[in-house]
Amino acid sequence: MKQFRDRTAVITGAASGIGLELARRAAAEGMNLVLADIEATRLDAAAATLGLPAERLLLQRTDVSQESQVAALADAAFARFGGVHLLCNNAGVGLTRVTWELSTADWEWVLGVDLWSVIHGVQHFVPRMLKQAEGGHVVNTSSVAGLLSTPGMAAYNVAKHGVVTLSETLYGELRAAKANIGVSLLCPAWVPTAIHESARNRPDRFGEAKPAAGLSAAYDERMDQAVKSGRLTATDMANEVFTAVMEDRFYVIPHRKINNAIQLRMDDIMNLRNPTPLG
Ligand SMILES: NC(=O)c1ccc[n+]([C@@H]2O[C@H](COP(=O)([O-])OP(=O)(O)OC[C@H]3O[C@@H](n4cnc5c(N)ncnc54)[C@H](O)[C@@H]3O)[C@@H](O)[C@H]2O)c1
Repeated sequence: MKQFRDRTAVITGAASGIGLELARRAAAEGMNLVLADIEATRLDAAAATLGLPAERLLLQRTDVSQESQVAALADAAFARFGGVHLLCNNAGVGLTRVTWELSTADWEWVLGVDLWSVIHGVQHFVPRMLKQAEGGHVVNTSSVAGLLSTPGMAAYNVAKHGVVTLSETLYGELRAAKANIGVSLLCPAWVPTAIHESARNRPDRFGEAKPAAGLSAAYDERMDQAVKSGRLTATDMANEVFTAVMEDRFYVIPHRKINNAIQLRMDDIMNLRNPTPLG
């Protein structure tokens, strides 16, 4: 996708972190913006910092884990701007616990926001994007957690691995269909955002996660520190995404130091070796 000006971007999880920086970059490129987030107040405040005229902006409170709300978002976006050219399925939450301490509610919350959201995004936007003459591009935010199996993050890992294979499958199918729609997969490592405060967005119906203790608490603390000390910023992620979209490049893996860990996992698989612990 080469042309952004006067085209329309839909970005989920746009009230904070990487989503907000994607929105900032899309605004700078002259796009119309449809911004969605579960946190309406924070979304309003974030959008106000973009300095966009009202006619180029649509804000919609959306819980992306709910199909009806993603469908409503698509309806609103196409009705308002007549097309959607850049779809960023970006909203996400994290939860750190050892696998045997994750409750069903924990799994459902994380898989809902991190995996079902992307499924619903593809279901409700791509068929309509296929009908537009201008084509478009889908950006799915996964994580290096979608390429590795970091301890303490089973629900997140499962969701993000799901986003990787969903995106790879979608890419192949769109090529087979000779569709004018690109796909990019963003897999960041640690980026200082509000991801470690994800519990703020856990709906009441799931109850609270049990407090982390022992190994879960140690992993949680390590995660917190890793996110806070991330060297690359959310702005860097947005810039990498836009470069990839312009180049029609699929894999966006900004933290290149992670390559060794990816290679190690692949070597373990190819050599039928037991998984090398990641720490
Ligand atoms: N920060 C990192 O280190 C990191 C690393 C790898 C991948 N990611 C991924 O990047 C994406 C963005 O996260 P971030 O780091 O900017 O975190 P963030 O918490 O700053 O932003 C996430 C946004 O998603 C929104 N959100 C949460 N639940 C939602 C729901 N049900 N419906 C709609 N919106 C919802 C939040 O309100 C928030 O605005 C996520 O998919 C995350 O998994 C982040």
